[in-house]
Parts: sequence; structure tokens; C-alpha cells
Amino acid sequence: MPSLPVSSFPRSFCAPGRVNLIGDHTDYNGGFALPAAIDMATTVAMSPRADHRISVHTGKFSESVDFEIGALKPIRRGDWSDYVCGVAWVLESVGVGLQGANLSIRSDVPVGAGLSSSAALEVAVALALLTRSGLEMDRRELALLCQRAENEFVGVRCGIMDQLAACSGRSDYALLLDCRSMDIEYLVLPAHLRLAVCNSMVKHSLASGEYNRRRQDCEDAVAILSRVLPKVRQLRDVSLSDLERFRGDLDPTTYRRCRHVISENQRTLDAAAALRNHDLAGFGALMNHSHKSLRDDYEVSCAELDILVELAREQDGVYGSRMTGGGFGGCTISLVSENAVDNFKRNVNNGYALRTGTQSEIYICEAAGSAREHVPVQ
Ligand code: GLA
Repeated sequence: MPSLPVSSFPRSFCAPGRVNLIGDHTDYNGGFALPAAIDMATTVAMSPRADHRISVHTGKFSESVDFEIGALKPIRRGDWSDYVCGVAWVLESVGVGLQGANLSIRSDVPVGAGLSSSAALEVAVALALLTRSGLEMDRRELALLCQRAENEFVGVRCGIMDQLAACSGRSDYALLLDCRSMDIEYLVLPAHLRLAVCNSMVKHSLASGEYNRRRQDCEDAVAILSRVLPKVRQLRDVSLSDLERFRGDLDPTTYRRCRHVISENQRTLDAAAALRNHDLAGFGALMNHSHKSLRDDYEVSCAELDILVELAREQDGVYGSRMTGGGFGGCTISLVSENAVDNFKRNVNNGYALRTGTQSEIYICEAAGSAREHVPVQ
């Protein structure tokens, strides 16, 4: 790369977290999701090294790791560094030709809160390493490579939503993602609307196995349903009436998993239509249904998330509320009118502390832009 003078370093690259407004556990079924990138981000400062090593430091855990580019192997350490090594390993495997770099990571995306701190880290690291090699990459391709790092190196069989949101966010817009074609429709969010994200403080770990198990349930269902419906490749291709017709072929749990995914796809499309028509009440009702479906059919909510959702819906100026992201802890998302935000925060915080003994954190987020080089203002 090095047409740049050394004094231009470090160069910083940042990638946003995301909050999903509706459409969870649909992405790996080829379906639809409606996230927004948010104004919480991970930043990676990169400066070149003359050798073939990548040295990474994170302030958050006060830790450093160091690895030799030529000796990268898909062996996990089971911590944050897996996301960095995973991205380096994938980039090497597609022939990027990595060069030595020092990376320093900062982040204000809460970890394990369902706001996609992992994808933000992957994408920011990928941008830093690509720049070090003097390369640019199409955003969809970048998202796919980061997803591959998480699937094959970290071992979470996540879908494409988080990486695509980090690579494609736009200020003031939600993104209707078609997770099969990777097409994106940008839908403007009304100016008076606030994205209130409530952190249950229950940490989730997608690597814990339940997430991958849900995905496996969906794939097992596809294997069974495609015997009688040969055009079915993913649950995206199954209608609710087909599911009812062949309900007897599935065990009751698998049936409920499918009912969530298929109905959630439709809810996400309906929610996008509601947003286009400025129908926030309709949008909020779909969010509330989505939570019920995730809780009862997909079984990825938990008592704390259910309490946060209940408390949110009791407040004035709230259109809808649901858990967001993978679940098993993490955050809820509520759509709140700007003028109701202060009461919302106070009442939900107090109510949650009373009912659980835990102090929640509430972030009022803005829909933010995509991953980019962060150029400091002079
Ligand atoms: C996690 C995964 C995503 C998606 C959500 C659930 O965030 O990384 O790919 O599956 O869970 O919608």
C-alpha cells in the first residue's frame, strides 16, 4: 500500500452495531429482516508493520494477541480474538495477501447484548486489513466474508443480517434485507421516532449451542418438507398453508419453529409496508406479535426480556416492543415517540429494577451510516 507517508498512520476504520426492528431468525432461512445500523460502533486503528505479523490490542479487555500471517489456522481461543483471527484467516484464504499490521480496537457496542458487537468487530478489522493490503471490496462480498469468518472460524452459524447491516447502514434509514438475494431497500424512519434499546444485562452467547440448534431444526424441517414440496430449498420457500398441510410430517417442536420463521417473514414484509405507509401503529402491532412468536414458538426469549417488553408497552408514546437479535438475553427494541422518551426511560428503568433487582441500561439510538474509514476532524 504504502503510497502513503508513515505519518498518515494510524488510519481508523469503524463499523456500527445494529438493532433489528423485526425479522429475527429469518436470515439463515433465506428470509427477510429489517435492521438499522446504530450510532454505537467499533473502531480499529491500523498502522503497518514491516514483518508478517498482525498484533492486536483491545482496550476493553486490556489484552493483546499477536499472530504470524503465514501460520494462520482455524483454531479458536474462545474469546474476542477469534473474530480478528477469523477475518484474517478468511481474507488469506481468498488470496488477499495480508501484510503486517498493528491493530488497536475500541468499541462502545455492548458485548453479548444482541447488538451485533461481533459483526462490527469483524467488519472494522476487515476494512483495516484490506486497506493495509491496498484493496477495496464490494460491500456485499465483504459482509459474506465476515459471515464466513464467524461461521467457519468462530463456530456460530449466523446468517448475513448483522454483517450486511454493518456494511450497508444509512443514517435515518432502516434496511429491508432480502437475505437470499442480499437486495436492500432503504426505508426512512420518521423523524419523531426514537429507537429505545433496553439492555436486560443478561449476557447471551450465541456460541452456547442453542442458536446453532435452532438453525439445525430449520434445516431438518427443510429436509422433510422438500420431500413433499420439491421446490423448497429453505423455509423462505414454505407458506403457512403448506406448513399446515404437512404438519403431521413434523414433530411438534419443529412445527412451531417453522411457524415462527414463516410468519416472521410475512410480518417483516408487512412491517416494511407499514413503514412505507407511515402506519406506526400497524408497525408496532407487528413487533408485538413478533415477540410473542419468538417467545412461544421459537423459544429464544427469557423472563428478563419478557419483563422489559411488558414494561415498555405500558408506557405512553410506545408503538411496539420486542426482543431483538439472537435472544437468550441481550436487548429489546421499542419504538417510542421523541416526546415520551424521558418518561419511558425512567419508568422502564425503575420497573425493571423493582421486578428483577437488576439495573438495566437504556440506549436511545439513531439509525447510523455504514462501516467506513474514520477521518478525524482537523
Ligand atoms: C444473531 C445472528 C444473526 C441473526 C440473529 C437473529 O444476531 O448473528 O445472523 O440470525 O441472531 O435474527
